Amino acid sequence: MAILLLVSLISCPVSRSRTNGPLRKAARTHHVKLGTAASALHLGDPNYTRILGSEFEQLEPENEMKFARVHPERRRYDFRNADALVSFAGAHGMAVRGHTLVWHRQVPQWVSAGNFSPAELSAILEDHIATVMQHYAGRVYAWDVVNEAFNDDGTLRNTIWYDQPGVGHAGMGTRYIEQAFAWAHAADPKAKLFYNDYGAEVMDQKSDAIYAMAQGFKQHGVPLDGIGFQAHVDLAYDTPETLSSFAENLQRFASLGLELHITELDIRLRDGSPASLAAQAKFYAEIAKTCLQQPACKVLQTWGFTDRYSWIPRYYPQMDWALLWDAEYRKKPAYFGLLTAFEGKGKSF
Ligand code: XIL
Repeated sequence: MAILLLVSLISCPVSRSRTNGPLRKAARTHHVKLGTAASALHLGDPNYTRILGSEFEQLEPENEMKFARVHPERRRYDFRNADALVSFAGAHGMAVRGHTLVWHRQVPQWVSAGNFSPAELSAILEDHIATVMQHYAGRVYAWDVVNEAFNDDGTLRNTIWYDQPGVGHAGMGTRYIEQAFAWAHAADPKAKLFYNDYGAEVMDQKSDAIYAMAQGFKQHGVPLDGIGFQAHVDLAYDTPETLSSFAENLQRFASLGLELHITELDIRLRDGSPASLAAQAKFYAEIAKTCLQQPACKVLQTWGFTDRYSWIPRYYPQMDWALLWDAEYRKKPAYFGLLTAFEGKGKSF
């Protein structure tokens, strides 16, 4: 009996779960939390779970909290896969970031083809936000409340939530976004609420529009806590001008008193040659340092961690190799680039 108890204690998953890998150890010494997107599909893959549970401090479900997944029918929510990820995070000492409540993609058929009036859509979205956030209250500390609401030229994207037909604020600019934040705050007053977008990393028309919105929200007491910068990039972004514009952009948002998260970092490549992998490692380190040097930058999160399951080849023809581990779970130069940045070495990057 005593031996059995001892054996079960030694092999107990909770004790294993406390292992800190080198990256997580290095990240723990900073104000920046290191996260990754993860998918419940791969929780049965021991290589996947070993790295996920030991090298990262934060987990964000890659798809499992999106509208179509958690709310597949009007009167049915399905939290099973998202719950599995949240439990995994809890068992491995990881924080959870929620993604996402208001987005024009991954909306279920029953919503997109439902011919609802603005009043009906408004009730549907308010209920959706309340139900999902309350389910995870106390377990999800931050939410991407609204995702990708702007076009690249800074105009608002025409979506089912904005003006097609929208939730009742069509043509009123960012008023519908404000409404979503108010609903989210009412649902879970303790959660940190984020606006998240891609292609908003440097100073340009798109980030100007997001900045103007954020500034207005701060002035009017809208409960906006921070901005998520997705950072899906390739090597063409790695120029001194881009990096300094990124730092300048982060600084202006920080000056509004906002928390900044880099939420979906990946660096896609055209080939997996040693030269490309080295350039990628250098760029990962530069981005990490930009975040580490900005006190308001509190999260650095990659969009997955192994090339085995990256979204890149499905969405960017001819491109791949975007993450820190290769498809066989070998650490890539990018892993060591990030590690070096977190360890505070390699100041010459
Ligand atoms: C992507 C997922 O990685 C894919 O698996 C899915 O098929 C589509 O969505 N911006 C976002 C993320 O905010 O939710 C997207 O994730 C990638 C772009």
